[in-house]
Amino acid sequence: MKTVRLSLIGFGAVGQGVAQAILQKKEILKGQGIDLCVVGISDSKGSEINARGIDLKSALLRKKQKGTVAKSNDSAFDIIRNVEHEIVVEATPTNIKNGEPGLSNMSAAFNSGRHVVTSNKGPLALCFSQLKEAAEDNGVFFRYEATVGGAVPIFNLIHESLAGNRVIGIEGILNGTTNYILTRMEQERLPYELVLKEAQELGIAETDPTYDVEGIDSACKLVILANSVFGQAATYRDVEVTGITKITPEALELASKNNYVVKLICEAGNGTLTVAPRLVPKKHPLAVGGTLNVASILTDLAGRITISGKGAGSIETASSILSDILYIARNS
Ligand code: HSE
Repeated sequence: MKTVRLSLIGFGAVGQGVAQAILQKKEILKGQGIDLCVVGISDSKGSEINARGIDLKSALLRKKQKGTVAKSNDSAFDIIRNVEHEIVVEATPTNIKNGEPGLSNMSAAFNSGRHVVTSNKGPLALCFSQLKEAAEDNGVFFRYEATVGGAVPIFNLIHESLAGNRVIGIEGILNGTTNYILTRMEQERLPYELVLKEAQELGIAETDPTYDVEGIDSACKLVILANSVFGQAATYRDVEVTGITKITPEALELASKNNYVVKLICEAGNGTLTVAPRLVPKKHPLAVGGTLNVASILTDLAGRITISGKGAGSIETASSILSDILYIARNS
């Protein structure tokens, strides 16, 4: 049995989803020879540390009842640096201004010789190449499937299943909130403010929803994709971005009458990065509705491959994080 010790840095929707996924899969994974053991959890108010393994059920319950997992004042840094473990799961909220606290947490993890698995877009959209180099310099893995497309395994598909292919271009919908808003506005003729509120209630919108509707969240994801796939050293500021705030119900109705839908499309290829609303034929593979994300990858050998699925959500994002954890468990 291989025991893999983890810390969960950030215990919001994603961190709790990871704890739930580990609880749910623990026995099955033990049957496959892997014992996942969470030895540290931290949130904004404090931490729980247990070298023998934290009882995840009671940690989740405490978080629900008290709003925090804290049993001590230990900081995220105390856990990352001083608690013996192999993988840091960095799931603090995205901060696109300076990437913090995720950026410092990831750097501390690399410098302590620990692998990093993350869902946090901010540090990668600002400092992708520095983080990748830091991981390489320290001989550890840096995995970030959950940063783009939620449950949709875009990086695994490109780097593993399509290995050997040259990726010519990528286009897709990488933000569930705007897709939900545009779909509801078009299909139900509901006003923008109301459907934005619905998206917030679904728990998929960013804490500051202007990140979604102004296209910033999409731009961050596009830049992470481009850097990872094309080896670019771009930041989200290199993306030409137009959001959806100026799309009127009348424009959506007119498009619909002509058998088109309006989608916030991300495009990478030929060195250019753009996020903008586009007219998409209703039967086109990119015309997915609701909160779905979709990525269409054009390659030299395989041609075009399109995948779609849930781009946000606690347990869906945890699916990608778990997959990265298991990749490291099997390959380290
Ligand atoms: N706000 C994001 C979205 C969450 O709507 O897609 C997932 O990154």
